[in-house]
Amino acid sequence: MTHALAETTALDFHAAEAFAGRIGEIINSGAIAVMISVGHKTGLFDLMATLPASTSQEIADAAGFAERYVREWLAVMVTGGIVAYDADARTYRLPEEHAACLTRGAALGNFAVYAQFVPMVGATQDRIIECFRTGEGTHYADYPCFHAIMAEDSEQTVVAQMFDTILPLVAGMRERLEQGVDVLDAGCGSGGALVALAAAFPNSRFTGYDLCGDAIATAKKHAAAACVSNVNFEVRDLTGFDERERYDFITSFDAIHDQKDPQGLLNGLRGALRKGGAYLVQDIGGSAALENNIDFPFAAFLYTASCTHCTPISLGQGGPGLGTMWGWETAETMLRQAGFGDVERHVLEHDPMNVWFVCRPGE
Ligand SMILES: C[S@@+](CC[C@H](N)C(=O)[O-])C[C@H]1O[C@@H](n2cnc3c(N)ncnc32)[C@H](O)[C@@H]1O
Repeated sequence: MTHALAETTALDFHAAEAFAGRIGEIINSGAIAVMISVGHKTGLFDLMATLPASTSQEIADAAGFAERYVREWLAVMVTGGIVAYDADARTYRLPEEHAACLTRGAALGNFAVYAQFVPMVGATQDRIIECFRTGEGTHYADYPCFHAIMAEDSEQTVVAQMFDTILPLVAGMRERLEQGVDVLDAGCGSGGALVALAAAFPNSRFTGYDLCGDAIATAKKHAAAACVSNVNFEVRDLTGFDERERYDFITSFDAIHDQKDPQGLLNGLRGALRKGGAYLVQDIGGSAALENNIDFPFAAFLYTASCTHCTPISLGQGGPGLGTMWGWETAETMLRQAGFGDVERHVLEHDPMNVWFVCRPGE
């Protein structure tokens, strides 16, 4: 039936050619993204930001790498429009404006950090295709670099913004933290946010729980390196979490939709708040409706993360697989169902990809 229809429908060759061109660009960009990740992990972008126009041999020598590989990587960077090339001098240079979004500590944020997710999810392809057939889920161990990449992501998105833009969302909390309160970060990952808070507020006590032992081990090292003693990290499956009225401030950063029982956890977090306490939640700010996300920043990237990581991780725990784009509407409804009568929603100017909720028990 479909075949017969195809034979009788005139093909719009211009549209088909334009689309083929677009597919070519997508494949090219995907390849460049993998090589941007290589540039970040090897430190080549950071190095090039400090070098004048240099030959591939000079760059390789400065990095301590094999020239042949560096030259091939540079070819991707030049044809990808990232590195400037002087063909006469055979020198390569990373323009300052490009270094401003591809290097550690860069003024505009380091986009190369996010590029690392592309090869990470690519490496899971066979496992995910198996999941398409079986309907099974995955486990964190299927993504060996996940927590390290997530920690770098969080460092930029959450930790760097914590004191100037994030904490002020929770009216009165800075003063209470200065006086001394109990704080929980649910699904704390490698603990960057909690260590930063613990260092800033020595009178308060901080607890971080996460399912994954490798993330918690990193968090403990991080706390030791920062010499903070008012933070405690523990490996804990938050399924069935039930610590009644133990905390004054609870946070979760991008840690609800992957859970085995997201609604159960939100109910538990509501019950764990003391009178007058607040719960600050960050999650992906897309809509629950696909049609609303067509122009959402990085929408295809986020749905890819959902299909290859967030959805299967939740399914693998026996969860509902809400996915990365579960939507702010779903999140808000679930927060209210958990018993938060007062739920404020914020989108920060510098970060349109995420949504922030400040939740209080209300009346
Ligand atoms: C996307 S990561 C975010 C980590 C951290 N909050 C950050 O911003 O870097 C989600 C975290 O939720 C944790 N998680 C998922 N399911 C969990 C569960 N059942 N119990 C405890 N933690 C869980 C994962 O181990 C992971 O560290």
